Amino acid sequence: MFGWFNSKQVEEVAVEPKIEWVDESPKQVYDYFNDSTGIHFDHKKEIVTAKLIRFAKEHGSHSFSHLLFRLKSDSVLLQHLINYLTVNETYFFREMDQINYMTSDIQKTSKPIRILCAPGSTGEEAYSIAIALSEAGVNMGRISIVSIDINTDAIACAQEALYSKRSLHRADEIIIERYFTLLEDKYQLKDFICRYAEFKALNLFGSDLMTLGRFDYIFSRNMLIYFDEIKTAAAISRLISLVETSSSILFFGHADIITAPIGLKEHYEKRTKFFTKG
Ligand SMILES: C[S@@+](CC[C@H](N)C(=O)[O-])C[C@H]1O[C@@H](n2cnc3c(N)ncnc32)[C@H](O)[C@@H]1O
Repeated sequence: MFGWFNSKQVEEVAVEPKIEWVDESPKQVYDYFNDSTGIHFDHKKEIVTAKLIRFAKEHGSHSFSHLLFRLKSDSVLLQHLINYLTVNETYFFREMDQINYMTSDIQKTSKPIRILCAPGSTGEEAYSIAIALSEAGVNMGRISIVSIDINTDAIACAQEALYSKRSLHRADEIIIERYFTLLEDKYQLKDFICRYAEFKALNLFGSDLMTLGRFDYIFSRNMLIYFDEIKTAAAISRLISLVETSSSILFFGHADIITAPIGLKEHYEKRTKFFTKG
């Protein structure tokens, strides 16, 4: 009898609360999200609206205006939504031409070098840079790599440095053997290389961006594709404020459309496009 009573209670607890959804335009939520993060969803509004409704209901909201009211006053809820909606796709050794270009540039000097990945998602980019520099025989003692991302779950994954085979599909077996330890079906990056990259949960548009200091090389790859023209320009000007000198280099992703890059000078060397402050 008690068994029946308990399982019935569990069933009752598991039932999702029925929320009567008030139908209204999601525009203000989109605008607020765009303003906070830079991301817009103009090309996939239907899918994202369905996701937003689901998110709102799961968090006890019955309308977009109620969700918006709560997002404005609850930074934890806003962070949940950011983690839910950002696309963190990345993998090791992506767009290596730029990393190789930087590596040969760094080999020409012996000065301390600061590198920024903004954004770095789950860490593959920052660690690929560390591995490439280490493989090239660069003295790693003079290298500092900082990787930021707005998604706190992505930052936690980067710090854990435990990757799937899919994430390593571009990696040679010899590199996997040298830098990773196989743990069941996952690959743990070894400590001796992990320690060259530092990860911070940070919004490119946040007021704490300048606490990062300045950098000799900035990678900002495959984030601007999610921004509109206005936010792309704003992001570029934030990135420019982080360069160390007028010869510091900025790399963008191949898919990032950098039209009329105000404040940037374009270069093309060794089949690699990059920018300096201009
Ligand atoms: C597709 S990933 C690119 C990762 C890596 N740079 C690459 O090219 O493989 C895009 C990342 O941008 C991050 N992002 C989006 N808006 C951001 C913002 N305002 N500040 C910091 N990171 C942001 C997302 O969380 C996501 O992890």
